[in-house]
Amino acid sequence: ALPYDLAGRRIVVTAGGTREPLDPVRFLGNRSSGRQGYALALVAAARGADVTLIAANTDLLDPPGVTVRRVGSALELQHALLGELAGAGGSGVDAVVMNAAVADFRPSIVADHKIKKVSGAGTEPAAAGTAPAEPAETGPGRTEPAEAGRSIALTENPDILRGLVRARAAGELTIGVIVGFAAETGDQQTSALDFGRAKLARKGSDVLVVNEVSGGQGFEVADNAAVVLQNPDTTAPGEPLQRQLARGPKALIGAAVCDLIAQRLRPDAGS
Ligand code: C5P
Repeated sequence: ALPYDLAGRRIVVTAGGTREPLDPVRFLGNRSSGRQGYALALVAAARGADVTLIAANTDLLDPPGVTVRRVGSALELQHALLGELAGAGGSGVDAVVMNAAVADFRPSIVADHKIKKVSGAGTEPAAAGTAPAEPAETGPGRTEPAEAGRSIALTENPDILRGLVRARAAGELTIGVIVGFAAETGDQQTSALDFGRAKLARKGSDVLVVNEVSGGQGFEVADNAAVVLQNPDTTAPGEPLQRQLARGPKALIGAAVCDLIAQRLRPDAGS
């Protein structure tokens, strides 16, 4: 039977991938399906937690017993998350699990109208018989003139996870456990795990779940293999800082993360 060790705990999970609008019909997005976050939310709810799932552009059924809030962009996700954290009578939450793939950048300008392909260098010639290309609109947020190789100006999104860590350290937010996820690929010099350790140090979360995504693992697949890293600064002495999880269904990864959350929330957990 499942342990009922998260009873009464308030947990917020983000899942899916943000979409950063470019114009009314286009966006910059990513391949995150949201399945890992959904599986974790379902397991946490089954173990007694009061779970809110902030879902960015997922195509999955709402997990039973979980409150789902839908968002699109990174800024919307941040707004929804901070709303959850400010709610609950200001008493904070027991855990935040940042599983969503949040875009690091968004287009600096969101066009009010669909951006037109204008004739000129870098575009295909109009097929015979079609109407001539529409003239470029002008003004801020409108189509720029034709150029050889067009570009999109980007603005950096807030790092939501790091913001949570900082706000907690400053006493602005009450969050028991902060969990991040990282999909990493290794290169010749550095393993995916080493990148994960560096990311944990940078982000400062209590836990970072590192997925190696190079081998077709991770995004858009049912099974996941992961290493769970714990922050040496916030982990009780004697607790393992690294745990390899066997490759298995995302619900099992979710259960392992729930184990850690429950353990860290125990009154004698020491942190
Ligand atoms: O830096 P990277 O995107 O790999 O970090 C992954 C972790 O950081 C995830 O937990 C993700 O939800 C979070 N993140 C965030 N805000 C961003 C980018 C990532 O909270 N702008």
